[in-house]
Amino acid sequence: MSVPLESVRADTPGVDHVVHLDNAGSALPTRGVLDTVMAHLELEARRGGYAAAREASGATEAVLGSVAALVGGEAESIALTESATVAWNSALHAYPFSPGQRVLTSRAEYASNAITLLQLGERHGIETVLIEDDEEGQVSLEHLESELGRGAEMVCLTHIPTAGGLVNPAEAVGELCRRHGAFYVLDACQSVGQVPLDVSRIGCDVLSATGRKYLRAPRGTGFLWLGERAMDLLRPSQLDLFSATWVAPERYEVRSDARRFEFFEHSVAGRLGLGAACDYALALGVESTWERVFRLGAQLRGLLGELDGVHVHDKGALKGGIVTFSVDSLDSHAVCAALGDAGINTSVSVPGAAMLDLPERGLGPLVRASVHYYNTVEELQRLVGEVARISAAGNGAAAGNCGGTGS
Ligand SMILES: Cc1ncc(COP(=O)(O)O)c(C=O)c1O
Repeated sequence: MSVPLESVRADTPGVDHVVHLDNAGSALPTRGVLDTVMAHLELEARRGGYAAAREASGATEAVLGSVAALVGGEAESIALTESATVAWNSALHAYPFSPGQRVLTSRAEYASNAITLLQLGERHGIETVLIEDDEEGQVSLEHLESELGRGAEMVCLTHIPTAGGLVNPAEAVGELCRRHGAFYVLDACQSVGQVPLDVSRIGCDVLSATGRKYLRAPRGTGFLWLGERAMDLLRPSQLDLFSATWVAPERYEVRSDARRFEFFEHSVAGRLGLGAACDYALALGVESTWERVFRLGAQLRGLLGELDGVHVHDKGALKGGIVTFSVDSLDSHAVCAALGDAGINTSVSVPGAAMLDLPERGLGPLVRASVHYYNTVEELQRLVGEVARISAAGNGAAAGNCGGTGS
């Protein structure tokens, strides 16, 4: 089934105001997400936060089921978090590492994950081993298999990096991890809502994701999915009276489900918005929306590639909706700022967020235009027209800084 473009745009208030090509940063929420969040905030204002939470308790419980359905898991395997980073870090800091254990990672690894692995190296004496790319630019399955053969405790894979179109072969990595018994952590931050995900097919033990990107949920939302092995192994590094029960003055019991990684306090409105975003994605069908994101991404790469002095930098055998490019002799921050002045949202991918990738390819900051299914071909043409104008005008047209965050 194809995406009903008119109705999805009618459901997206932001498209009347901006050409939004920063979906890898934070996508435009649907009208339903916005209404859900606003309605709960109003309920809190009228009834008080705790009473409002009680009234909404059925709906908040249902969010776990919606998130689980999106990744093919069970509600008991989901913990709701404030971000992908909180989810990923909670899992990694809960792993019972021993000195000398090897963790395999790839060039797509997200900055915050890489920093955490360095920190865990200092703390537990684990060694992080980099798996090289293959000739297409995705993680090399051959290199991965040989390093797994030498012994590895864990594989951490970023499914889709922050700084490019690459879609890593998550299922093939899962198959290798299964064969070698390695614990498999998948960062699905950029893939959830963009590509169809099914944890049993992927074969991961942990999956972390955020709400605000391709899922179109409110900022400050995310989730963690734990498989059976993760449920057995992972002990949260921090607890509170929600994740554990104080059963006697000297004793506490940790929750048995994945919500052992949640704390009591959270934004109820945000979580309800996350549920509404998941339900919207499920109703459209991620297979259909992915097909459109894939097509628009390829189209944008083609259009930009035809411009003189513009270079597209995405790698990978399979590429999705994130398109990175540079303009000869122009600073990417200035290009992004000039696009912003023309009412087109993009962002900048900086080497500091993709340290194992961009510097290795000799690349500095890149303009990142990330498409979603609600974007139109006319919007892509507008972007390309502006890039051509900025490129032709040179430094005179492009000054300023749109503040690349690398996320
Ligand atoms: C691949 C990847 N992983 C993790 C994150 C972190 O997500 P969050 O900001 O929700 O913690 C990002 C953010 O851009 C990302 O692109």
